[in-house]
Amino acid sequence: MIHLKEIAVTFNPGTALEKKALNGLDLKISQGEFVTVIGGNGAGKSTLLATLCGEVLPTSGQVLIDDVDVTTWPVWKRTSFVARVFQDPMVGTCSNLSIEENMALASRRTLSRGLAPALNRHDKERLRHALSRLALGLENRLKDPMGSLSGGQRQAVSLVMSALAPMKILALDEHTAALDPKTGAFIMDLTRQIIEEHGLTALMVTHSMTQALQNGTRTVMINAGRVVYDAKGAKRESLTSQDLIALFHKSHGEADLLT
Ligand SMILES: Nc1ncnc2c1ncn2[C@@H]1O[C@H](COP(=O)(O)OP(=O)(O)OP(=O)(O)O)[C@@H](O)[C@H]1O
Ligand SMILES: [Mg+2]
Repeated sequence: MIHLKEIAVTFNPGTALEKKALNGLDLKISQGEFVTVIGGNGAGKSTLLATLCGEVLPTSGQVLIDDVDVTTWPVWKRTSFVARVFQDPMVGTCSNLSIEENMALASRRTLSRGLAPALNRHDKERLRHALSRLALGLENRLKDPMGSLSGGQRQAVSLVMSALAPMKILALDEHTAALDPKTGAFIMDLTRQIIEEHGLTALMVTHSMTQALQNGTRTVMINAGRVVYDAKGAKRESLTSQDLIALFHKSHGEADLLT
């Protein structure tokens, strides 16, 4: 269970640039839930994921994972249970390192040895196998620099990388937004597969109402740093993207939609 408990995040406090990005956001997510997160620009969605991953320290509130208070844990300490994939395929992987080196870094906690130069044949086979499942031919390009891949290829590798290390939470921040529709659909299929196979708990930020409803088990809407709408089960099944758009407009005029 993830519990983001009454989280407030204020950037640049006490200055003219002070911004309350999260404002008492409270969200409980059960093991195995796949939550799609929607909301307008600046609503606080990325800050929510950054708080979960440890990149942003809340001004107040707590981050609890299975009842363990990880609020002050640094990013590196959280990588054993949470992985993040970003909108920009260039973020999260290193252009100058080869595909193999990037993947070795991502999986270093599970491989028998440390960094890339120490990869043994078994480790390399494991990486090759993980890549071959993408059917993009990348298993034959292990020595190529990550920077030579297209955005979609790079996003596919990022997803595979995220699943190499032992983790239970996947945080996706508009990870298909920069991709063409066909590649985006491919990456979305791969995402579902990885979540299912590894039994992950997932949060996926998207600006597509259709994507938000077609994927996952629950949809939450964020506005002004708070959860303003939360739907799962039968309530969610009967929702259309038009309903969500109407709720979205309403949430900009009203402080709280949550019922
Ligand atoms: N590092 C930062 N320093 C200062 N302000 C920030 C920082 N990060 C985010 N903000 C501000 O916090 C608010 C929430 O930002 P956030 O990136 O979480 O929004 P978002 O919901 O992800 O929006 P988008 O849909 O545009 O990605 C915005 O007003 C943003 O300008
Ligand atoms: Mg964002």
